Amino acid sequence: ARRTTVLDRTVVGAIVPVAVAALLAAAGPAAAGTTGGSGAGDPYFPLAGNSGYDVRHYGLTLRYDPGSRRLDGRAVLTARATRDLTRFDLDLRGLTVTALTVDHVKAGFRRRGQELVVTPRRPVHRGRTFRVTVAYAGTPGPVTDPDGSPDGWIPTDDGAFVAGEPQGAMTWFPGNNHPRDKASYDFTLTVPEGRTAVANGVLLGSRTARGWTTFRWRQTEPMATYLATATIGTFRVHRYTTRDGITVYDAVDPREAKAAAPVVRQLPSVLEWESRMFGPYPFRAAGSVVDHAPNVGYALETQTRPLYDSAPDLSTLVHETAHQWFGDSVSLTSWKDIWLNEGFATYAEWLYAEQHGGRSAQAEFDALLARPASDALWEFPPGDPGSGAHLFGTPVYARGAMALHALRRAVGDRTFRRILRAWATGHRTGHGTTAQFVRLAERESGRHLRGLFRTWLYTPGRPHLS
Ligand code: ARG
Ligand code: ZN
Repeated sequence: ARRTTVLDRTVVGAIVPVAVAALLAAAGPAAAGTTGGSGAGDPYFPLAGNSGYDVRHYGLTLRYDPGSRRLDGRAVLTARATRDLTRFDLDLRGLTVTALTVDHVKAGFRRRGQELVVTPRRPVHRGRTFRVTVAYAGTPGPVTDPDGSPDGWIPTDDGAFVAGEPQGAMTWFPGNNHPRDKASYDFTLTVPEGRTAVANGVLLGSRTARGWTTFRWRQTEPMATYLATATIGTFRVHRYTTRDGITVYDAVDPREAKAAAPVVRQLPSVLEWESRMFGPYPFRAAGSVVDHAPNVGYALETQTRPLYDSAPDLSTLVHETAHQWFGDSVSLTSWKDIWLNEGFATYAEWLYAEQHGGRSAQAEFDALLARPASDALWEFPPGDPGSGAHLFGTPVYARGAMALHALRRAVGDRTFRRILRAWATGHRTGHGTTAQFVRLAERESGRHLRGLFRTWLYTPGRPHLS
C-alpha cells in the first residue's frame, strides 16, 4: 500500500499512468488503501455509500418524459480524495452509463450490482479535488426496501414521486449513497411543458422552449443523498417569503389541493414554533410537495421541502418539518441511530399538540406505556432496530419519542429544551450519533443518564419502571 505514496506524482502522471494503475488495481492486498471501498461501513446497508472520497457537490442535469418514462441524465460530482485512489465506487442501480470521465479524461468503468466501479486513467491523489462526470439514461424505477416499501424514482400517472430513504437515491443519480457524506446540489430538470419539476432548495429560474420546461434548483446547505428529490407532476405552485425571510415554494397536485390547503398554509407558523423550540431554521428555503401517489404509502422529509404522497394532516406536517432540524440538518452517521430522526420528529408532534390545545406528551407517553407486552411497540429496542427492515417500525417512532419524554421527566422542562436546542445548533448541517446525544444530555443536565438511555433505547421488551 505504501508504494503509491512513494511514487512521484509526475512519474505516475507522465510516464506509465495506465500501467501503474493497472498494476496497482491488480495487485490485490498489496494495493489496499489505493482503491476506494464499496461501502461506507454501515452494518445495515453494507454497500450503501463508498469510501476513499467525499463528495462536495452534485450537479444533476436530468430530462424526464413521463409518457415514455425515459430519463436522460448527466451527473457531475466534485469530490475530494481521502486516500490515493486507483479505483473508486459510486452507487447506481439500473440505468445505462454511456460515458464517464474523471477530470475530463475518459475513465474505465464497470457495473457490479449497485456499484459503479470507476478506474481513472491516472490515480487520484489523496487530498485532491476531482471531478467525475457520468452520462446515463434509461427507465428508472424504485428499489424495494427491506420493509417492503418502494424507494427511489417512483413513477406516477403524471410524473414521478422521488424519495430516497434509505437507499433510493441510487435509482436516479450516481453518488456516495450514505448520509455520512453530505454535499451541496444543483439541479437542472427538464420536463414536458405543463409539468413541474421540484427539487430541493431555491428555484433559480425556469425556461420553456419547444415544448419542454427546464427548472433550475440550488441546494446550498449540505444534504444527504436520500433527501434529494426531483419530483415531477402537474402541480399548482404557490411561492412566498416568510417574515423570517425564508423562501417558500409549495407544489400541490390539484387532486389533493382541497384537503392540503388548510394544512400546507400553516407551514410558516409551524416553522416559527419549531424555531422557537429547536433554534433557528437551518435552511434558506422551505415548502411542501403534495403529490397524488397512492402507491407510495409514506411521506419523506426531503430537505427544505417535504414530500407527501397525499394531503398530509397537520401532525404529519409538523413531523416532516421537525426532521429539517433532526435528520436533515443534524444527520445520521449510521442507520442504526434512526431514532435520532424518527423519535425526535415524533416527539415534536407531541410537543406541538401539547402546546396547541391537544393531548399532553405525558398522556401520550402513558397511553403507550399501557400497551400490553405483546404489542409491536415492544418488539425491539429503538436504539438498535437490528436490521434495515425495522428502520421505520413503531418502536423507532413511538418508543424513540418515549425515550425523549423520559429524559424530559428526568431533567425538567427547561433543561430538556436546552438539550434539544444545543443538539440542533451544535451539530447544525453536520452529523450526530446517539453516544454524542447522551453525552450532551449529561453535560447540559449535570446528571448521569446512561441508565435511562440504556432502558429506553437498548433494553428489549417493555421497560420495567420503578
Ligand atoms: N422518514 C420518513 C418519515 O418521515 C419515513 C420514510 C419511510 N420510508 C420507507 N422507505 N419506508 O417518517
Ligand atoms: Zn419521520
